Amino acid sequence: MAKLLKKYCKDKTSVQVKAPIVEALKRSFEHPSYQFHIPGHTKGRAIYDDFKQLTGTRMISLDTTDEFDNLGTLHPATGPIKEAQELAAQAFGAERTFFLLNGSTVGNIAMALGCTKKGNKILVNRNCHRSILTGLILSGAEPVWAIPKQVEGWSIWGSISPQDIEDSLNLHDDISLVWITNPTYEGVVSDIKSISAICKRRGVPLIVDEAHGCLWNFSNDLPETALKLGADAVLHSLHKTGGSMSQSSMLHIAKNSLIDANAVEKALKLMHTTSPSMLLLASLDAARANLVSYKGKKLISRMIKNAKYLRKRIDGMEKIHQLKPDFGFLTDVTKVFVKMDGISGKRLETILEVDFNIEVESASDVGVLLLVNQGNTFNDVKYLADALEKISQTNYTDLYYLENRKHMPLVIPQIKMSPRDAYFSKKETVSKHDAVGRISAEVIAECPPGISILLPGELIREEHLPYLKDYEFIEVVKEN
Ligand SMILES: Cc1ncc(COP(=O)(O)O)c(C=O)c1O
Repeated sequence: MAKLLKKYCKDKTSVQVKAPIVEALKRSFEHPSYQFHIPGHTKGRAIYDDFKQLTGTRMISLDTTDEFDNLGTLHPATGPIKEAQELAAQAFGAERTFFLLNGSTVGNIAMALGCTKKGNKILVNRNCHRSILTGLILSGAEPVWAIPKQVEGWSIWGSISPQDIEDSLNLHDDISLVWITNPTYEGVVSDIKSISAICKRRGVPLIVDEAHGCLWNFSNDLPETALKLGADAVLHSLHKTGGSMSQSSMLHIAKNSLIDANAVEKALKLMHTTSPSMLLLASLDAARANLVSYKGKKLISRMIKNAKYLRKRIDGMEKIHQLKPDFGFLTDVTKVFVKMDGISGKRLETILEVDFNIEVESASDVGVLLLVNQGNTFNDVKYLADALEKISQTNYTDLYYLENRKHMPLVIPQIKMSPRDAYFSKKETVSKHDAVGRISAEVIAECPPGISILLPGELIREEHLPYLKDYEFIEVVKEN
């Protein structure tokens, strides 16, 4: 107990255990001004009553934007916001950190605008998030695809081989940037250390979209963060697993980065709202303070224990299988991708939802993705494990989904035009069957996980059709 207390006291005095935006919001709440500025609901007075009751009066009265009441500004970062970003940079081991609204989506777009130009060749893994593509459409840079290995029997992309990165850089000596997603949505981890060493030898900057790995810096039981492995910039969706509110993310520029932080900052200013939500910014500040606190450490260690418990229980279930490191790549222990013999992932999702009131992260035709989070108690995880066990011992049928599967087509793309040229070309809309052999003018990427099936500039092929069940028409580049 004395040891715990000592740790807690140390924690309390640490420079990291303060949250400047939270404190500034608290001050403004405790000393309210006569408000003649936006937002017009004026501390929740002019708002729909049911909504106010639902959120609570305090929550809605804290909804404000930057500039007012000494809360600082986001662009440029001043006051408590600047201080909070500096604390975040220190906590994550970065040179500079930018707080993002509109998620890592805006971070990826700003990175593309800040780091690439029309015609630049960018080496990107094919299973990147669609926001990277949005960025490339806007900047006019052209992707050279790094195709990950496929994970046999799971219908997902796996890890990216450093050798493939090296080969692509040898083949295209004009590649000006490497951009890798790690981990994948399902938790597959690539060897960023080796990829970073390859990039460093050639002086090519490396961005790592670590949207799903924002906790990695805070536990030795999780993979190493790219900020420690030599990446030049890293994105973190703190709202996904880090404990901040939806839409709030961070973009870190590494120490000794090859990336120009000022150019990225300018691009962020271009893309960001001019009325940033102080609640979202405060939630980023609070998430960082929590992660470095004693409580945060306890929560993360509980999360890992719970994830290991769940994995062990699943190992004992004959009909349920999980994605594991023994498949030839590392995985993040907290992302548990499971499949069950005889039923699809969609059916398993429905059973969990309807019969057990369990909501999963996502489901594919093959499997279900379960996230064990910081906030989950042991009882939550035990309830989930018990439910999976019951399901595995019951004879559920799955006629509908098994017959209507639309496997993610892990098709190697045939690029006919740059994404930007195709996106801004003259277009027409044709039935999906007539679209075969034509060049796509739109991004087709269902969320989650937001990985592209087809991109502007790519040839539409028969292999794509099974996946396009929900599409009647597709936008294609108009022929002369
Ligand atoms: C790998 C990856 N990068 C970026 C994003 C976009 O993140 P956000 O939802 O924070 O905008 C996602 C979203 O799912 C993602 O999976």
